[in-house]
Amino acid sequence: MKIINIVGARPNFMKIAPLMEAYRGAPRIRPLLVHTGQHYDERMSDLFFRQLGIPQPDLNLEVGSGSHAAQTAAIMTAFEPVVLEHKPDAVLVVGDVNSTIACGLVAVKLGVRLIHVEAGLRSFDRTMPEEINRVLTDAISDLLFCTEQSGVDNLRREGVNADRIHLVGNVMIDTLLRQKERAAASPILDELHLTPGQYVVLTLHRPANVDDPAVFGRILAALEEVQREMPVVFPIHPRTRANLGRPGLIGRIEAMGNLRLIDPAGYLDFLKLTSSAYAVLTDSGGIQEETTILRVPCLTLRENTERPVTAELGSNRLVGTRTESILEAWRDLRAGRRGTGGIPPLWDGRAAERIVKVLDEKL
Ligand code: UD1
Repeated sequence: MKIINIVGARPNFMKIAPLMEAYRGAPRIRPLLVHTGQHYDERMSDLFFRQLGIPQPDLNLEVGSGSHAAQTAAIMTAFEPVVLEHKPDAVLVVGDVNSTIACGLVAVKLGVRLIHVEAGLRSFDRTMPEEINRVLTDAISDLLFCTEQSGVDNLRREGVNADRIHLVGNVMIDTLLRQKERAAASPILDELHLTPGQYVVLTLHRPANVDDPAVFGRILAALEEVQREMPVVFPIHPRTRANLGRPGLIGRIEAMGNLRLIDPAGYLDFLKLTSSAYAVLTDSGGIQEETTILRVPCLTLRENTERPVTAELGSNRLVGTRTESILEAWRDLRAGRRGTGGIPPLWDGRAAERIVKVLDEKL
C-alpha cells in the first residue's frame, strides 16, 4: 500500500516526523514523502528535517511563495503529475496550510483516498486562511484523525460519519516528547544570556496581526510594558520581518531595549526557549498545544482558538489583541494568578502509532 505524505510549511514538519517513524512498524505500508516547497528557507525548512530526523523528501515541488491563489494553484499543478505517476493508494495531509488543501484537492479529484491528520479543528473565524483550509480539507477527506474531542464534535456536527473519525491524540506532541531531552541540551539560553523562568518568548505571524499596522501597533504597546519587566525574545517569522519596514513600527521596536529580535529558531532551540520561559505570548496554533504540554503559561494574541482544549484544560489564555486585554492577562500572571494546567487525553507521544495502526487495518 503506497501512501504519499505531504509537507509544505514549518508546522507540518513536526507533524510528519513521528508518522514517518511509525510507518517503519507497518511493513505493508510504503510511504513516500513529498515536500511542496511552500517553505524553503534553511531556517524555515531544512533545519527541521535534520533536527527531527525526517527522511529526505522523495520529491520537492519547489513552489515557493505567492498569493494564496497562485501558491495553491502552483502546488496543485505540480502535484497532479506526481499522483498520476506514482498511483498511490492514499494521500496523507497534515494541518491547515495551503499545501494541505492543494494536495488534498488533487488527490480526491483523481479518485485517491485522502487522509487528514489534525482534522476537525475550528476557530469559526472564516477570515483566517487556515480555517478555510481546514473546513475544505475535512469535507473531502475519507479518514479523519483528531487531536482533541472538539474536533470529533465539529466533524459530527458537519455530518461526517463516525466510522471515518478517529480520536488519536496529537502528532505534534509526539515530536515534542521525543525531542525534549535533546532540546534541554540546547545552548540557546546561554547564547542569549537568559535566565530560566525569567524571560518571555514572543511569536507573531498571523496576517490579521502583522499585516495590519493598527493591530501590530496595539500589540507593540503592550510589549512596551512587558519588556520593562522581563526580557522578551522574539524569533521573527519572514512575513513579520517583511512588515517591520512600515512607518512607525521599526522605530518603536528598536526603542524597546529589552525586546530581542532573533532569526527564526530551529526546533530544538525553540523548544528549549519555550520550556524554560516565564510565559509565552503568541498568535500561533501549535504553540498553544506545546505550552500546554510544557505547562508554561501561554497568552494567545487572538480572539479565538481552534484548539479549545488548550484553554479549557491547558495553560492557554485567549487575550485578544487589545493593549489593555494583553496587559490585564500579563498583570494577572505577575500577580501569581496562573492556572496549573492539565494534559489533554491521548497527548502521550503515541498518536502516530495509533494513526498507522488504523491505516494498516483500514486501507
Ligand atoms: C504559513 C501557513 C500558516 C502557518 C505558517 C507557519 C498558510 C495559509 N499559512 O503561513 O498556517 O502557521 O505557515 O510559518 O499556508 N517566506 C520566506 N521563506 C520561507 C517561507 C516564507 O521568506 O521559507 C516568506 C515569503 O515572503 C512569503 C511569506 O513568508 O510570502 C509567507 O509565507 P506563506 O507560506 O505564504 O505563509 P506563512 O505566513 O508562512
